[in-house]
Parts: sequence; C-alpha cells; structure tokens
Amino acid sequence: MSGKPLWSGRFSKEPDASAHRLTESLSFDVRLAPQDVEASVAHVRALEAAGLLDAADAKALEDAVREVGEEIASSSFAFDPSDEDVHSAIERGVTERLGGLGERLHAGRSRNDLVVTDLRLWSLAAGERVAADLVDLLEVLRDRAREGIDGILPGTTHGRLAQPVTLGHHLMAHAFGLLRDLERLEEWAARTSVSPLGAGAIATSTLPLDPEATASRLGFAKAFDNSMDAVSDRDFAMELLSVASILAMHLSRIAADLIRWSDESMQFARLDDAFATGSSMMPQKQNPDPLELVRAKAARPASAFARLAQVLDGLPLGYHRDLQEDKEPLFDSVDTLEASLPAIAGCLATVTFDAEAMRTAAEAPELYATDVAEALVAQGVPFREAHRKVGGLLRLLEEDGRTLGDLTPEDWDVVGLPQGPQLLDPEHAVSARGMHGGPSHQSVQLQLETLERALATRR
Ligand code: ARG
Repeated sequence: MSGKPLWSGRFSKEPDASAHRLTESLSFDVRLAPQDVEASVAHVRALEAAGLLDAADAKALEDAVREVGEEIASSSFAFDPSDEDVHSAIERGVTERLGGLGERLHAGRSRNDLVVTDLRLWSLAAGERVAADLVDLLEVLRDRAREGIDGILPGTTHGRLAQPVTLGHHLMAHAFGLLRDLERLEEWAARTSVSPLGAGAIATSTLPLDPEATASRLGFAKAFDNSMDAVSDRDFAMELLSVASILAMHLSRIAADLIRWSDESMQFARLDDAFATGSSMMPQKQNPDPLELVRAKAARPASAFARLAQVLDGLPLGYHRDLQEDKEPLFDSVDTLEASLPAIAGCLATVTFDAEAMRTAAEAPELYATDVAEALVAQGVPFREAHRKVGGLLRLLEEDGRTLGDLTPEDWDVVGLPQGPQLLDPEHAVSARGMHGGPSHQSVQLQLETLERALATRR
C-alpha cells in the first residue's frame, strides 16, 4: 500500500491486504463524494465561526474541498490504494493540496458523524428523486384511469370471476397505494432532516462548534438532540428501505396485472413493443420482460430491509464498523426504484387496452350472481336465504349446461325478479354501484378528483 491511513499515528504496521480488502468502502461509498464535499464545506464554516480558521484559510480549505470533489466527479482524482473510504480520500486530497492547512480540516469531527451526515443528505436527495418519479407515474395512472372510466371488465378474486369493475376503478386502486407511498416518503423525509454533524465520534467536541448553524447550512431542518444517538442511529435508512419495499411491492403488483392482462388467455391489453422483448428462438414472441423484472426486483428492497435490520439488531450504541454495511442495501434499493419507476410508467403510458375484449369478458353471467341475490335482499329476503336461492339456481342451471344468461323472462318471473335480464347488464351493474369508492362513473370521478388534489400540492 502506498499512502498511510489517516489514523496511522500509533500503528506500527499498515493493514494487511486482506484486512484492507474487507474493510475498504471506497468502492461503493465514492458515490457519497458530493455529499461529503458539502458536509466538509459546512464544517469548514463551523471551524471559521468558532475562530479556529481565519477567513482566508477557510476560503482556501473550501476551494480545495470543492476541487477534490470536482476531480472525483470527472474521474480525474488520483485515488490511493490506501484510501479506506471516500471521507479519507477527500481529506487526503485536500491535505496534499494545502499541506498543514489541510490538516486542520478534521478538527472537531469524526468520520462517525461525517458518514451519517453524508448518508442522510444522499438519502434525502434520493427520496426527492423517487418522489418525483412517483408523481410522474401517478399522472400516467390518472390519465389512463380517466380514459378507462367507463371501460367495464371482470373484477376477480382468487383470480376467478367475481363482480364487474371498470378499468378506471382498477387503475385508481393502484394509484391510491402509490399515493400512500408518496405520503410515507414525505413523512420519512421530514423525520430524516436532522444533521448529525458536530456529534463527533460519540460525545461532540470540546471545540466551540455550533451544530444548529451547520444543520441549517446543509439544509437540514435541525441538528441532532443527542450525539450518541446521532452517530448510532440508522432508523432513517431502515425506514427508507421499508418505504421502498412497500413501493416496490406496489410496482410489482401493477406489473403482475399488466402481464396477466396482456397474456394470450386474456388479451385485455397489448404491450408496446418498446416495453417488451422478443425470443431468441421463437419468432412469434412478444415477452413482457421489463414487467417481469419490475415484479422480481421488488425482492431487492425487501431483502435489503432484512439485511440492514440484521446488521443493526443487538448492536450496542456508538459507532461500530458494522454500520458501514448500511450503504449498499440503500444504494441498491434506490437504484432499483429509479430503474423500475420510469419503466412501469412508460409501459402504462403506452399499453393499448382492448376495451372490446374486456367488455366481452364482463358479459359472463356469473359476474352478476351477487347482484341477483342483492335484488332479492332489496325485496326483503334475508341475505343468507337469497344466497342459498341463487346458489341453488346456479346449480340447477349448471346441471342443464345453462347459465343465468339463458333464463327467459318467464323464468325470471318465477324467481320473483322480473328485472332479471337488466341485472345481467354490465353497464347497469356498474352504474348500480354508485356508492363511494366503487366502480361507477361518478365514484371513479370522485376518486380522480381526490388524486388530482393530492397531485396539485406536489407539482
Ligand atoms: N467507511 C466508514 C463507514 O462507512 C466510515 C466511518 C469509519 N469510522 C471508523 N471509526 N472506522 O461507516
């Protein structure tokens, strides 16, 4: 190894190559360089305000920190094989530029408060990008739901014919889940906007630093309340992973619906070629690979949550190197969302829904069996009795190879429901469900208005 680690003062040996390979984090935490630069500049200003740096030195330090950041961004920075992590690499770069002045940078701070400051800044910026992608996806769902407000299709439970719904109703069901994700993300961000800088290694510092001023310089809502908590806490990372897991699960369920709707047995939807792939062997194929990957990649944030939870479980307070394992699950989960969200939005924006095929499938008479039972209830028949009656009728019809659709007006008179044929009419059945939250035109219209209000405050 060429350079010496930052902490080499009391050491007689350099780390063994195997120890270095195990402990280094530069290979993945280099993406925190922009945040490390901002946190370092804020710390320089804190040292200046504390009277530990004069204005000229503070300016020189800030310039050097920013220069190193720019070199890292443009891939021209010369990393040293001894660099343990992005924090030590940046400090080394500054010290090589400024000599003795560079050695003043780390006064009153530790990598323990620095790393978690960087990670909070990174997470908050990532959360904003994910929220923006989420808003884009919600706008696509809103538009497609509006278009499909009167498109009737079979609603299924257990994957089997249940009751009629509309495309607008179904797409809005996905939208409300995503809207909760957006709210969760916002609540998480408010809780995460706490600066740990100034907490030092565990017990702050004897130097007259002002963590509140540093917090506001970095755009955090406030500074830490307790320095030991500040360096030990990774709740914000677990919470982001939990929000990401739920969001990714929602995306996987949208993907599952689109896969099912576009398969040969349903043909309710046709995927755009730009969101499908072909087979290397079978020329006829249009496969939903992007959707399948959105579905499968939901495993990543969920397992990332479990992974970080295991790292943190039973870990005593104070910094431990174990905490270095917080970053990769977080990076991978955010990368996954940033790959999945635009793809599913694009897929939904371009998919062609086949209203005819959906409407035809919605003519299956069994979808209206509940409506028949409820029509009896409206006449005063107890529901259980109505359920038994309709069930018995269905059994008799089935034995005959017939369905409710084969009943004549005379048959319906016998059942005591002269309006029977109308009960089997898809449009009638949907508009009869005018109650709040349902599939009827006016119900979905209200749902769209709720979504529109939520989006209006976020644009
Ligand atoms: N690379 C470390 C991390 O990611 C930075 C903190 C190191 N602190 C220490 N005391 N070894 O957590």
